[in-house]
Amino acid sequence: MRVIIVKDYKEMSRRAAEVVANRIGKKPDLVLGLATGSTPVGMYSELIRMHKEEGLDFSKVRSFNLDEYCGLSSDHPQSYHYFMHDKLFNHINIRPENIYIPIGDVENANISCQWYEKKIKEEGGIDLQILGIGRDGHIGFNEPGSSLGSRTRIKTLTKETIEDNARFFKKREEVPLYGITMGLGTISEARECLLLASGTNKTEAIQKSIEGPVSAEITASLLQLHPRAIIIIDEEASQNLRQKDYYRYTEKMAEKLERK
Ligand code: GLP
Repeated sequence: MRVIIVKDYKEMSRRAAEVVANRIGKKPDLVLGLATGSTPVGMYSELIRMHKEEGLDFSKVRSFNLDEYCGLSSDHPQSYHYFMHDKLFNHINIRPENIYIPIGDVENANISCQWYEKKIKEEGGIDLQILGIGRDGHIGFNEPGSSLGSRTRIKTLTKETIEDNARFFKKREEVPLYGITMGLGTISEARECLLLASGTNKTEAIQKSIEGPVSAEITASLLQLHPRAIIIIDEEASQNLRQKDYYRYTEKMAEKLERK
């Protein structure tokens, strides 16, 4: 695991966008796994800037989103379909036919989930998966107790997740009770993972994910088993890390090696 500690949200967003741009540079038809939530918004803004000012080209990129709420239509302002178009897709040159987002249709859940898994395979698998993290340590909507080998499926959201996400809705009662999410097995198969976190409300989840035991209780801890996981966090989110100084030192040493 590569843990990169930066000053603040802005720096986290910039560094994350650089990783994405670098991978697109190396592979223009990159299969990019995307995340929602407030955390990646700054990275999306930076990618839009890079597209407009520096010609970052998304015309061959294919994208798969991690998750979606069940029961919200794709034009619902709080759906992840809407979010992704609003925050990224409408402002870059990605082709609509290359965008994949799970369909949160509970009645046809099995078909929808199997189709999503099949599509990821058909496109060659995810090259780089972007991840945020919930306060309870979840990635996607893989709430505590999710099987570490799980595939795309419907998950019941925890009270904590519903409360956290209520800020995007007019009333708490409007937050869907279920989400459709790539499983932890699906995420593990991405060739590279990039997890972002910012702010003090992520401090505990980050410490447990990076330094705690690998467990289904903190599903982001699964990244400890991933051969290529990068974690970019700001000062606030890194506050409780026991090995913080070592992570900083490692990054400095890695930079020195790169310069040689
Ligand atoms: C939701 C999403 C996650 C996201 C999490 C954190 O539960 N399903 O993918 O990581 O929220 O959101 P935020 O970045 O707003 O803290």
